[in-house]
Amino acid sequence: MKVSLFSLFALSVAAGPLPSPGAKPSDVRNVIMMVSDGFGPASETFARAYVQQSDRFPMNYMSFLDELLIGSSRTRSSDSFVTDSAAGAVVFASARKTYNNAIGVDDNVKPIGTNMEGAHRLGYKTGLVVKSFITDATPSAFAAHAAARQMMDLIAEQMGGLTDLGQNVDLMFGGGRCRFIGNSTKGSCRTDDKDVWGEMGKKGWTLMSTNDEFKALSTSPKLPLMGLFDLDNVPYAMDYKINDVPTLPQMAKKAIDVLAEASKDSEQGFFMMIEGSRIDHAGHDNDVGTHFREIVEYWETIKLVSDYIDEHPDTVMVSTSDHETGGLGLGRNNQYWVYPLVYANQTMSQQVSCQNFLKLPMEKRGQYVTEVMLPVHLGLGNVTAAKASAVLKATNQSNCLLAMSEALAVDANIMWTTLGHTGVDVNIYAKGKHTQELAGNHENTDIGMWLTKMLGVDLNEATERVKDVNVFQYPYTKANSTYVFIPSLDYYHK
Ligand SMILES: *[C@@H]1O[C@H](CO)[C@@H](O)[C@H](O)[C@H]1NC(C)=O
Ligand SMILES: *[C@@H]1O[C@H](CO)[C@@H](O)[C@H](O)[C@H]1NC(C)=O
Ligand SMILES: *[C@@H]1O[C@H](CO)[C@@H](O)[C@H](O)[C@H]1NC(C)=O
Ligand SMILES: *[C@@H]1O[C@H](CO)[C@@H](O)[C@H](O)[C@H]1NC(C)=O
Ligand SMILES: *[C@@H]1O[C@H](CO)[C@@H](O)[C@H](O)[C@H]1NC(C)=O
Ligand SMILES: [Zn+2]
Repeated sequence: MKVSLFSLFALSVAAGPLPSPGAKPSDVRNVIMMVSDGFGPASETFARAYVQQSDRFPMNYMSFLDELLIGSSRTRSSDSFVTDSAAGAVVFASARKTYNNAIGVDDNVKPIGTNMEGAHRLGYKTGLVVKSFITDATPSAFAAHAAARQMMDLIAEQMGGLTDLGQNVDLMFGGGRCRFIGNSTKGSCRTDDKDVWGEMGKKGWTLMSTNDEFKALSTSPKLPLMGLFDLDNVPYAMDYKINDVPTLPQMAKKAIDVLAEASKDSEQGFFMMIEGSRIDHAGHDNDVGTHFREIVEYWETIKLVSDYIDEHPDTVMVSTSDHETGGLGLGRNNQYWVYPLVYANQTMSQQVSCQNFLKLPMEKRGQYVTEVMLPVHLGLGNVTAAKASAVLKATNQSNCLLAMSEALAVDANIMWTTLGHTGVDVNIYAKGKHTQELAGNHENTDIGMWLTKMLGVDLNEATERVKDVNVFQYPYTKANSTYVFIPSLDYYHK
């Protein structure tokens, strides 16, 4: 009999009730999902090699993350071998494959309940901690429902608890304040004039936007609480020195303390998602120096979560990526060596350096490239005429980033294959009880199903509750290419 591969595939993604994940283990109270967006195995290898060499650790050095490795995850979405972060997060949020760009909806653009909604209904305290804008694909997949990730005006209102969806998140830390302020206010990125921030305040949210407010926060603030520390993304770790913002480990630590305190007298604990969002962005930039510093910051965050689990063994954590970004290759041109320390003296993200460059008038650019961008920002000891002229020729952010990337990558003997995502399997790391269930190679949906089980959530019931919520900010059909998202660097760096 001739078997159609296509029909086998179609069967496997058909919508319908999900299987019951089994009984919630009685020894689990708190559940933490960690997402390293755009972080593939080669990126871990590079970051480990860099730290091993720069700190002169022995060759068998293990990063903190390496010690928690238990398996690998297949990342494809329902409609593409290469997923985007929306479909790549819905699998954790709702344990179901869907199409690229989908937020909390299935292949038929019908809303599906999320682990976070189900957990909140059961009485868990819930939180989202990210470095991107809070309405970006990964966080919104946990607490919003939209036919396309670009519908961020709607997503902001849903996450703020202002729509028919109700309020499902108790704490949000990240960036993206521009979606919460109306278009008549400077810095807004909304298409309408709705004051979402003000409306959330009226509904009782505690709101904050500065690092001083963050630092002054007690462990028992009034919930719900939202802190958005930038109009757009929270800056890269590489650029913290020129920005006064909380870091990812600081936000994660505070969020854990606040949610633990808020749930201490409750039958249920807390469920949170913590994302190293910008590992992905630096991959889109092909900026190795910034990429591995985001990874090291993610290691620090994992370490503090792990320490928390040592003290609270009723907490479990899984960490994985939605996909790899950039297709980092460790080796190029048939040469058998890689030199990570080429990136040692980089002092600024290539994103910010290129933005500064493109703002300059033409006559000032040459000097800026040879005296600032290459020697200071990239920390390049040997500024050659060829490298300088490649950067000087740049006319936009994309070709500036590519020239900057290449200036160091040649010396390090590494190479990126794309400015987008790839389809390679990513690693699964975990800590705590019941995590052995995630050992080995898995479909990414297994991770969402594991969260469902640890939380004791009934996703079919959660879906029933959201089945009538509005998922459209504007008309949209999947096949209608007008609204199909075409990633561009400008999208990540508005
Ligand atoms: C601002 O929002 C209003 C609706 O609230 C809309 O009519 C107007 O076109 C928007 N302006 C811009 C510049 O987007
Ligand atoms: C980085 O700077 C240090 C101190 O100036 C220098 O010793 C080292 O060679 C530099 N590394 C690179 C790759 O240029
Ligand atoms: C600088 O780069 C050029 C071209 O790659 C190379 O010929 C030269 O040896 C390098 N000089 C140093 C000091 O590394
Ligand atoms: C940047 O400029 C290059 C060369 O002119 C062009 O091919 C490319 O499409 C431009 N990219 C963007 C995003 O505008
Ligand atoms: C896509 O859908 C919108 C809204 O229904 C419509 O205005 C537009 O013409 C459609 N575009 C295409 C290419 O079909
Ligand atoms: Zn991405």
